[in-house]
Amino acid sequence: MNLKTKRIRGMQDILPDEMKKWQTIEKVMTEEALIHGFKSIRTPILEHTELFERSVGDSSDVVEKEMYTFVDKGNRSVTLRPEGTAGALRAVLENGLHNSPMPLKLMYESSCYRYEKPQTGRYREFFQFGLEIFGSSSASADAQLIILAHSILERLKIKNVSLEINSIGCKNCRKKYIEAIIDYFNSKINSLCPTCKNRLTKNPLRILDCKNETCSEICKNAPIITDYICSECSEHFKILQKYLKSQNMNFKINPKIVRGLDYYSKTVFEFVCNINENETLAICGGGRYDDLSEILGGPKLCAIGLGFGIERILNIMESQKILFPKEKPPEIYIASIGEAAKEKAFKLCKTLRNAMIFAEMDIIDRNIKSQMKYADKLGAEYVLVIGENEISENKAILKNMKTSNEIEIPINENFLNDFLNISVKNIGF
Ligand code: HAM
Repeated sequence: MNLKTKRIRGMQDILPDEMKKWQTIEKVMTEEALIHGFKSIRTPILEHTELFERSVGDSSDVVEKEMYTFVDKGNRSVTLRPEGTAGALRAVLENGLHNSPMPLKLMYESSCYRYEKPQTGRYREFFQFGLEIFGSSSASADAQLIILAHSILERLKIKNVSLEINSIGCKNCRKKYIEAIIDYFNSKINSLCPTCKNRLTKNPLRILDCKNETCSEICKNAPIITDYICSECSEHFKILQKYLKSQNMNFKINPKIVRGLDYYSKTVFEFVCNINENETLAICGGGRYDDLSEILGGPKLCAIGLGFGIERILNIMESQKILFPKEKPPEIYIASIGEAAKEKAFKLCKTLRNAMIFAEMDIIDRNIKSQMKYADKLGAEYVLVIGENEISENKAILKNMKTSNEIEIPINENFLNDFLNISVKNIGF
């Protein structure tokens, strides 16, 4: 086929078989979030560019290199959201949700856009399931959120996941730490990669998670943040660990987790999963962002949240051969011969569907043999065959596709009850 146009690089079509798996993951996430008191929110895909410049940070890789930004017809700079937190908080503030009883717990599933180099688990369009808790400065909110994420991963049966946590302190203690790492990296500046040389003046924390081999080696001896955080941040971090331990949650403190987005303070964390012997991938990342509301012009509003990468979770579940529930086949296929029978099939289908029974019928004028073959392919449990004789006698043949047994069934106003009696009780044949 010589298609005239193709999909955009780094973006995926999610086809019906895959969609079913997505829905399984989304169902687990939503159900868990609901029993933790989260309510859904949906925000626009497009936001003013300045929202992300101010929140994600104009020296972050995301804002500097990865955003899909363009000028709209009204000459405004707008951006396809690269993540969900900034839009969620903007919506909270703009709609006055911060005045509602706290804590406010919100969940969303959003497509996100980052112009990154496509590779395993890295797309230019990807979906995040996000959870945000507003209005709590307590480490118990951090712990509850992490425990919720863990329950989701457990219910999805994902193996080889580890939780890594860190504290990057508040804006006050982070200042001292940044001075210390600038001093340290300045003394090694000639060995740093060109990107990190640039980061040294713009965003020195990001050097800590540079993937370049020499930079990683240099980072091994860099000062660590936990030695610099103030007593309040240190206490917060200790309490979080106490709660996690009390729930028997395994975790590792990884001082290198600084996260790629600038709005974080205090707790940051990631759930990472091995994709092969040497490589890990973050399937969920999050942290506290107590200052972001004020940065956006709102009141003080402490917050913590996380984002799951749905594609990464799906890829890992597939590679770990985790079974997804199978698509349900139709309960009944109505095969018909002739126009009068087809009209009757329409009526019966409607009756069945009104009762939430998955019913199918022919809509491409197949002959009866092909209809039976198609019903078998679909995996229909029963086939109702309505022919011309059956119409005149107001009855039809119901075939159990598993046993191949057949019985006669009236196709009058009692049809639904009769069918339910047979199918639910599985009687008669
Ligand atoms: P993030 O770590 O940038 O955090 O993204 C969250 C998750 O989205 C990652 O752990 C990863 O699974 C997935 N992800 C990120 N980039 C890509 C990509 N290019 N392709 C596929 N999956 C990707 C955030 O975005 C924060 N908003 C999370 C948060 C919520 N923090 C506080 N509240």
